[in-house]
Amino acid sequence: MRIHNFSAGPGALPEPVLRAAQDALWEHGSHGIGIAECSHRSPQFEEVLQSAKSRLKTLMSLGDDQHVLFLQGGARQQFYQIPMNVLRGGRATYLDTGTWSAGAIDDARRYGTVDVGFSSREQRYHRVPTQGEWGTLPEGTVYLHYTSNNTVAGTEYHYVPDAGDAMLVCDMSSDILSRPVDGSGFDLIYAGAQKNMGPSGVTVVVVSDRFLAACDDTMPGLLHYPTEVKKDSMLNTPNTFGIFVIDEVLGWVLDQGLDALDAKNGAQADAIYGLIDELPRYRGLAEKASRSRMNVTFTTGDAALDTLFWKQALEEGLSGLKGHRSVGGLRASLYNAQTDAAVEALASYMRRFAAEHGEDG
Ligand SMILES: Cc1ncc(COP(=O)(O)O)c(C=O)c1O
Repeated sequence: MRIHNFSAGPGALPEPVLRAAQDALWEHGSHGIGIAECSHRSPQFEEVLQSAKSRLKTLMSLGDDQHVLFLQGGARQQFYQIPMNVLRGGRATYLDTGTWSAGAIDDARRYGTVDVGFSSREQRYHRVPTQGEWGTLPEGTVYLHYTSNNTVAGTEYHYVPDAGDAMLVCDMSSDILSRPVDGSGFDLIYAGAQKNMGPSGVTVVVVSDRFLAACDDTMPGLLHYPTEVKKDSMLNTPNTFGIFVIDEVLGWVLDQGLDALDAKNGAQADAIYGLIDELPRYRGLAEKASRSRMNVTFTTGDAALDTLFWKQALEEGLSGLKGHRSVGGLRASLYNAQTDAAVEALASYMRRFAAEHGEDG
């Protein structure tokens, strides 16, 4: 029996996609073989790859100067692949808003100077900066890097930072395609697929010609974006099944419409934040203006009670509510595929739990 899944990633996938993947594993279309069994160079897979690229381009309003790649190594590989290619001893500004941006900063420091334009680390990453709060970028800044949604802290930018003349680089792993975003202004976007786009094992990268022109051509092929673009993500064998699932998810997103998903995601997040604000038993971990619609982080204010909350929830068929190990507390992930039924079940559980474990214990 399937239960409600609030995992931060790999996360819930849309039911029609799971059903299509089930069928395609056995026989993909009329090809007579499964999607995981065909050559990555076959017309069968080529069609999937081109479809996924073109669907993403449509959904993100990408320009002709932008290229879609399906790479491996996780989002984390991008932490070093980006500076390795374009920093080359120069400087970049990073906005430090959580575990993942801090990881990106650590890796970038190996390849040049990192200016940390903003950090909420001392406040347990409770917020993201407002537009321009990082001030003027230093002369010669190659790029501005930010993490659009902070999966662990539960914060999200509700605007696109202005990078001025510098290139704009974004880790969009946990909120890509959760609402309409004009992707045409970005020089590099990367996202591990395993939250809003598909299974783990594929990193979607969108890279601009401007970024490609800045790349170090001495990089080995697998780490060199221009080579990956030239080879259409097939310098080595890509994760064919993962890309197939992504293509199915992108088709589903197109069917739903980004505006509708945006509204659904907003309503689901509002329902849970509403309870956090209404019931004194709970406290949200993020500052209100920075709250993430994808990962709602909260606590009862008592570590033992938090543990009881997610353990008892699991017994009731609500999984994945334990906060990230680095921050503790509770976290409900409400990605695109999250159903209203799951959110209603969580809301009802939260009410009951608060009634049973009121402020006075
Ligand atoms: C925002 C963000 N960036 C990067 C990562 C790391 O992704 P991966 O495990 O694909 O390397 C994660 C994983 O949860 C994430 O949420």
